[in-house]
Amino acid sequence: MKKAFLAAFDGPSRTQPPFWLMRQAGRYLPEYRKIRKQTSNFLEFCYSPDLAVEVTLQPLRRYGMDGAILFSDILVIPDALGQSVRFEEGRGPVLEPIRSVEQLKALSLDGLHRHLAPVYETVERLSQEIPKETTLIGFAGAPWTVATYMVEGHGSKDYVESRTWAVRDPEGFGAVIDVLVDATAEYLIEQGRRGAEVVQIFDSWAGVLSETEFRRWVIEPTAELVKRIKKIHPNLPVIGFPKGAGVLYEAYVKETGVDGVSLDSTVPVEWAANVLQPQCLVQGNLDNLILVAGGSAMEREMERIFDALAGGRFIFNLGHGIIPQTPPEHVAHLAKWIRDWSK
Ligand code: CP3
Repeated sequence: MKKAFLAAFDGPSRTQPPFWLMRQAGRYLPEYRKIRKQTSNFLEFCYSPDLAVEVTLQPLRRYGMDGAILFSDILVIPDALGQSVRFEEGRGPVLEPIRSVEQLKALSLDGLHRHLAPVYETVERLSQEIPKETTLIGFAGAPWTVATYMVEGHGSKDYVESRTWAVRDPEGFGAVIDVLVDATAEYLIEQGRRGAEVVQIFDSWAGVLSETEFRRWVIEPTAELVKRIKKIHPNLPVIGFPKGAGVLYEAYVKETGVDGVSLDSTVPVEWAANVLQPQCLVQGNLDNLILVAGGSAMEREMERIFDALAGGRFIFNLGHGIIPQTPPEHVAHLAKWIRDWSK
């Protein structure tokens, strides 16, 4: 029998829809904080299969999610390409910014698989160690979102450097995107070979682009990624997450060829049920801050989402990752609510 998560791509489940939560492994869990203390270097933590396997399993032991997401980060790709990447306590990622095609030339795809070997080992071990009813989710950042970190050199609110480069010199910026399409396709294909049963492409900053730019830097590269993945793994489902895409979610679904789409919390669920769900699976979209609040307000929101989406192809998730302030008991409440849910 197909696992519940994978069966969800074929049609609505007869019982409860499957669920997992973005950033289900992380600092809201005391057992994560404890093991995270073993290294101050976050990337090193991601490249330690023993630790990465352990923290991937932690939320499953507590809450029994239907999906286990590989523990890693989207910024392992610039790191593997040879860009300097580090994570600073309280500041987040810091990269040596790339602002020209000249600087891009210092990066190389040659060492990609060698560099990412520990991540592949984590995938392989997880595929052995997760419960047999659980689905292993591989992932990568989408080219646009990863490019924003590479070009800005850090997280950003307005993405001035990336957006101006993209408009002023689309060919040059396109060269950054092309390298990322090559690296990301290789990376996800290899995750599929090592045991990932579905992959998610995180385009967290898709929502800052105008329509024209969205088509060029979000839809086009994602369509190319999906095409390359499907050529090697025709049956590996691909979920896209173009966070903040608004009504452009529709074009994204139609034009990229994804099998599923993850909705941020601003997407109206009735609209998603009518417009997106006939075309692919939808995943989402409880506000991650409502999970922080918990209680009956959370139950009401869950009810609303399930009423709209559980009649079609659906996996429950948040609209964005769990934040560190989230009480673990609220996640337990959410998991129990889903288990007790019936149509
Ligand atoms: O449980 C999971 O979801 C799997 C692991 C995962 C992490 N990052 C672990 C992580 C996944 C899927 C990501 C994706 C990721 N990383 C995204 C896309 C999803 C999203 O949230 O929009 C982005 C934009 C990043 C980049 C990134 N990584 C930032 C901006 C930060 C710092 C911000 C912060 O919360 O500190 C990270 C660090 C990071 N990645 C942490 C975790 C658990 C926290 C680091 C720590 O433990 O010190």
